[in-house]
Amino acid sequence: MHAKLPFLTFAASAFVSCCIAQVNFSTINFAGNFAKGSGVLESLRPASNPAFDFSPSDVFHVRNGPGQYHTGDLTFRYRRVGGSSWSEADTAALRLNVTSVVAGGLLTTGLNQAISGLPPTLKVSRSWSKKYGDLTLSFTIQNIGTDGIELGSLGIPIEFNNIFTGRTAVETTAKCVLVDPYIGLDAGYVQVTRLTGTGPDLVITPLNGDSKLEAWRFLSEPEDVPLGYEAQTYEGNYAWQIYSKAYAEHEWNQTEPWNAPTSKVLEAGEYMTVGLRFSVAKSTQRIEEAVSKAGLPVAVGIPGYVLPQDLTGKLFINTTENITGVAVEPKGALSLTNHGRQQSSWYMFDIQASQYAFGRAKVDVTYSDNRTQAIHYWIAHSSKAAISELGSFLTHEQWYTNTSDPFGRAPSVITYDRDTNDYVLQDNRTWIAGLSDEGGAGSFLAAGMKQAFSANAEEVAKLEAMVHEVVWGRLQISSGNETYAVRKSLFYYQPELVPGYEYDPYFNWTSVPGETWSKEAAYLIDRTYDYVHVSALYWGLYRAGRTHPGLLTQQSPDWYLLQAYHTVMFAYSNSSNGTPVTDYANVGLMGETVWGDLLADLKAENYSSEASAMEAVMRSRQAGWALQPDPYGSEMAWDSTGEEGVYYWSQYFNDNSTAQKTVDAIRGYMPTVPHWGWNGNARRYWDFLYAGSVQLARIERQIHHYGSGLNSLPLMSNYRASSDPGTIEAIYDLRVGYGGNQGPLSNIDAGGFGSMAFHSYPDTMHWDAYSGDYGPNFLGHVLGAATYLVEHPIFGWLSFGGNVQESQHDTLITVEPKDTLRQRLFVAPVSLYVTIDSGMISSFTYNDTSREVRVNVLGDENSVEGYNRGHQQIVMKWEQTAQQALKKMELGTTGMKERLDGYLVEVPRQGPAVVGFTACV
Ligand SMILES: *[C@@H]1O[C@H](CO)[C@@H](O)[C@H](O)[C@H]1NC(C)=O
Ligand SMILES: *[C@@H]1O[C@H](CO)[C@@H](O)[C@H](O)[C@H]1NC(C)=O
Ligand SMILES: *[C@@H]1O[C@H](CO)[C@@H](O)[C@H](O)[C@H]1NC(C)=O
Ligand SMILES: *[C@@H]1O[C@H](CO)[C@@H](O)[C@H](O)[C@H]1NC(C)=O
Ligand SMILES: *[C@@H]1O[C@H](CO)[C@@H](O)[C@H](O)[C@H]1NC(C)=O
Ligand SMILES: *[C@@H]1O[C@H](CO)[C@@H](O)[C@H](O)[C@H]1NC(C)=O
Ligand SMILES: *[C@@H]1O[C@H](CO)[C@@H](O)[C@H](O)[C@H]1NC(C)=O
Repeated sequence: MHAKLPFLTFAASAFVSCCIAQVNFSTINFAGNFAKGSGVLESLRPASNPAFDFSPSDVFHVRNGPGQYHTGDLTFRYRRVGGSSWSEADTAALRLNVTSVVAGGLLTTGLNQAISGLPPTLKVSRSWSKKYGDLTLSFTIQNIGTDGIELGSLGIPIEFNNIFTGRTAVETTAKCVLVDPYIGLDAGYVQVTRLTGTGPDLVITPLNGDSKLEAWRFLSEPEDVPLGYEAQTYEGNYAWQIYSKAYAEHEWNQTEPWNAPTSKVLEAGEYMTVGLRFSVAKSTQRIEEAVSKAGLPVAVGIPGYVLPQDLTGKLFINTTENITGVAVEPKGALSLTNHGRQQSSWYMFDIQASQYAFGRAKVDVTYSDNRTQAIHYWIAHSSKAAISELGSFLTHEQWYTNTSDPFGRAPSVITYDRDTNDYVLQDNRTWIAGLSDEGGAGSFLAAGMKQAFSANAEEVAKLEAMVHEVVWGRLQISSGNETYAVRKSLFYYQPELVPGYEYDPYFNWTSVPGETWSKEAAYLIDRTYDYVHVSALYWGLYRAGRTHPGLLTQQSPDWYLLQAYHTVMFAYSNSSNGTPVTDYANVGLMGETVWGDLLADLKAENYSSEASAMEAVMRSRQAGWALQPDPYGSEMAWDSTGEEGVYYWSQYFNDNSTAQKTVDAIRGYMPTVPHWGWNGNARRYWDFLYAGSVQLARIERQIHHYGSGLNSLPLMSNYRASSDPGTIEAIYDLRVGYGGNQGPLSNIDAGGFGSMAFHSYPDTMHWDAYSGDYGPNFLGHVLGAATYLVEHPIFGWLSFGGNVQESQHDTLITVEPKDTLRQRLFVAPVSLYVTIDSGMISSFTYNDTSREVRVNVLGDENSVEGYNRGHQQIVMKWEQTAQQALKKMELGTTGMKERLDGYLVEVPRQGPAVVGFTACV
């Protein structure tokens, strides 16, 4: 610690201006201004795009009151060493005017005047300065008293323009940003990304070794204000916590924090300076480069930070320092093998989870300059095991059989509460208990999607029973002029219609009019989103039946296929009075990528007129999106749900510019950082209200809500379509996409229960107890599950999803897929995408010299429990997803029977069948 402070006085001088006027500043990389009176940051504009403001300067005047935080404020808790209770200091609490000096740096301010109750022996000041063209913010705290003072919390509020209130969608995209942390201690940083996804973005890093990002604390603010706060259009602000011990002792004492909570003792006469540096990243893909330029180590985990027990991950760390230590918590949960530096500034590690570990694990890396970086992992069961545990949980624990239920919900896969380990049969958000809306349909949607790729005879039989007894005829109208219509909920609140039924008095059934549905409201058929769930359930059963003849017992595969088709088409029909029967028909719908599979299967089964009719509907929706500047509408003012569908059909109909704009938008709300919770975690923060446990139904940043799984699909598809999938820029999409795709694996607990999302607030930090709307997340997971082989320009051969081995002088690469399905592979150097409709790819090889690809396919008699067959016919599709004239491939194996949707692979009982692809000469 520093013993003496050279200069820290605020006596009147020629430079002092009491209650300063607004101060404009500029650095090489920024221009902006500090606010009149308080000197907090009011505007921060990148020099490369001076019309854009990272700060919400246009609404500054309406949020400059007491308790409203800005960048430049400071909060801390302190006590005399040995004392017990903490005192609170907060420069925003009263929002008092302060005295500033415009000299030295850009602006220096004594903050004692702004903090009520602060003893005069603790001196606090703030400086805005320049560093290498960047802006810096620092705080100096000096103890001039005679007793040691312990700082138990030190938090720097971060405010940038994530305020969507009162803005149109187009304005929101043009003006707003999202703020995401990497809670990684000395290597921690915050990224502020534009919603356009195209940058320039802002990167915030620690100014010195005393400014680690230990915790990320949500800041409470007055909510009854014109802009709202902790609301759908304004999530709110967070503080960069350098210390958090005082919170860990109180508000957070029921949770396991991301990092060990610390405090700092300032001995009598000591002072300390902490701070942040603000830098510009040219584009979202170059955020890590900007972080590295600011002097931080950068860690890149492959395939990400959700690690199934049977997958060997890789961890690369870019640093100019030496790594002096690697510690894992809990001990033994992960083992790391250090391969040292590979002819570059990057260290390389193999990382493997213990088969006895499950859940959160952390790697603390220490460097020769004494800094520590925390990298946060989630250990999952092997993904094959996880999906089968989930399938079993859904169709046993969540299998509701009370056929005397007055709402007719049995038998079904129904919402589940992990706190009580019981069904959710009542909730004042009626749909959650009513088998519809994402919050109530999520569980049967997951169960149906699971059968599509990983069928199980018992599960299929139960879902067929659900379809015939509950869906067809109850949840879905089966006769009359509204045949195929999907109701919004089977459960409703209307005591006079269910005499003798006791509505749980725990719930307030009348507090929010319109939210607790009467029978009439519940039976409405106008919510287009609900048609995805039901059609996906049918499609899943069709697929299970098609790939496993004889598995279905109630109807033929084609019956399910056509039910799915008619369900979609009804959603796009008009009622007798000429108005559309559903309300959200023309926005992108969560999970509608499955409709692409449905359409392909209609074609494959020769239902050509149905296929053309469905294609025409999708074409006209897409044509509408092509004309909209911001075609991502939903039920919410801002959302991250429509992009998946908009991308799918834009790509399908070759509208490259809409597809690319959509991928950009996704990059803007989906980060990649070395933390399982934020890596690939698309922005979601309000669905605890609509699909989560009633105990924690609130606005809160969600970890791995369904945005992760769903938005992973466009990013991975865009990666496959890249004309050069070996570049760092292209691989960025795969990293974010794969992170999002692995997210939904972390939601499945050790017993197979799938939670709707994880609560990120530091006083909560656990999975939501409701299964809720996990279904769409799982849909994204299985539709995207694949193993990628990539040659990275620095890291060499990598697999996302598989274990890689190089042999024959590095020319023959062997990959063993470990993804959830093991039915899809992508070989990046030749842009070859191969999928099979059942069975499993046990391994594949790529010869980097001849470009030959060989795929080993096994049947699935052992993996489909309750279903046995010897010889198996598996349909294999292949395509080259990018136009690479010099690398055209062809099917090398001859004699395979061709079908409309691919080639038949004859897999003998003992397997495997080998299929080869060779480079065209
Ligand atoms: C602080 O200064 C601003 C700008 O000069 C002024 O409008 C405001 O009234 C002052 N607030 C207080 C509490 O003195
Ligand atoms: C946890 O914090 C609460 C609130 O500050 C306090 O009442 C309680 O005693 C604490 N519990 C423990 C075990 O420290
Ligand atoms: C890695 O380190 C080098 C050299 O220190 C640096 O120039 C480069 O930008 C870093 N790369 C990334 C992606 O962080
Ligand atoms: C890293 O270690 C090497 C070998 O011990 C040493 O030569 C080098 O100076 C160290 N670098 C740093 C930054 O400590
Ligand atoms: C790192 O910490 C050790 C032990 O406290 C100290 O001796 C050393 O000087 C520190 N190194 C740096 C670069 O600060
Ligand atoms: C549901 O009931 C709970 C518990 O009484 C209450 O807190 C909540 O506001 C109610 N929600 C709705 C949507 O009515
Ligand atoms: C079905 O018929 C009823 C009764 O005529 C009518 O109210 C309703 O709008 C019709 N529905 C559709 C989708 O046309």
